[in-house]
Amino acid sequence: MRGNGEGEPSVTHHESRDHSRSCRWLLRKNMNFDLKGKVAVVTGAGRGLGRQTALHLAACGTTVVVVARHADQLSQTEQTIQQAGGTAWAIPADVSQPEAVEKLQKEVEHRYGLASILVNAAGIFGPIQLIKDSDAKRWVGTLSVNLFGPYLTCRAFVRGMIRNRWGRIINFTSAAALHPPGPLNSAYATSKVALNQFTRHLAAELEGSGVTANVLHPGDVKTEMWAAIRAEAERMGPEADAYRQWVRWVEQTGGDDPQKAADLVLRLMSDDAAATNGRFLWIEGPLQSPIPSWGEVSANQPWRQ
Ligand SMILES: NC(=O)c1ccc[n+]([C@@H]2O[C@H](COP(=O)([O-])OP(=O)(O)OC[C@H]3O[C@@H](n4cnc5c(N)ncnc54)[C@H](OP(=O)(O)O)[C@@H]3O)[C@@H](O)[C@H]2O)c1
Repeated sequence: MRGNGEGEPSVTHHESRDHSRSCRWLLRKNMNFDLKGKVAVVTGAGRGLGRQTALHLAACGTTVVVVARHADQLSQTEQTIQQAGGTAWAIPADVSQPEAVEKLQKEVEHRYGLASILVNAAGIFGPIQLIKDSDAKRWVGTLSVNLFGPYLTCRAFVRGMIRNRWGRIINFTSAAALHPPGPLNSAYATSKVALNQFTRHLAAELEGSGVTANVLHPGDVKTEMWAAIRAEAERMGPEADAYRQWVRWVEQTGGDDPQKAADLVLRLMSDDAAATNGRFLWIEGPLQSPIPSWGEVSANQPWRQ
């Protein structure tokens, strides 16, 4: 993780932890949980929450393909996993590019066979700008990474999961998708709202197939995304007050432990989570109180009676 000065994002200290601790805890809770031999693709695994998730999955015996654009950060994740005795393979790729995702799928299947776990943690915050003044390229680019990226990877890997009759897809969304709309973050919030609805559609298509798709809010975590928001908000005027308040609150509380999001991903691997599909999930004990999302699927539309 880059940046270790005061106030810099600090997930490095979590990385020295025993990542297999979470597997042992789940086994003690009698969760039917066997990931050995399974292949997971984790996007955004070069740093932050994606890296944490990759380290946890690898510690539980999963072969993990780690994906992001910066090869240097990815190879750090790969090395950390290998040094701990796990199996990892770094494939640098931009998930917003259809050809890159197609190539990724072919490479994974050629080397390891069908993937049965897909975690889409890759994401960008995008412009902190009013819509009228916004940089159109950055706005559209935010949707490309946060929405089209997961669409492309889900499309690429879900077929193999359906064939195997077992699969888990976890898309990292944000509580921002549930907050009342405010100024400045329309690209990010819109991308995550759309990601939620996309995941619900996917879940509806997957019902009964043995494959599930869910979104999770990973908590409010001091990652590089947090640092980038801080840097941009600090340069702005009073219109960015809400952002500076959020940044400060995360700083003061220390933020949520990124391990909690990784633990939630692991819990979704268990047979006990086989019926959890199309849901908005929260980490255990989040600093930010859970916000109502959508309920259980109901059959109350008149045409379903
Ligand atoms: N941190 C929080 O408080 C928070 C809260 C709510 C939701 N989330 C969500 O959690 C996820 C992870 O966030 P984070 O805080 O860990 O962010 P981060 O530290 O900035 O890490 C983001 C990761 O995504 C990768 N990435 C970005 N664009 C990509 C692309 N086009 N193709 C492939 N990989 C790409 C980055 O690597 P490269 O730049 O090398 O590609 C990096 O590995 C995001 O989806 C975010 O929206 C975070």
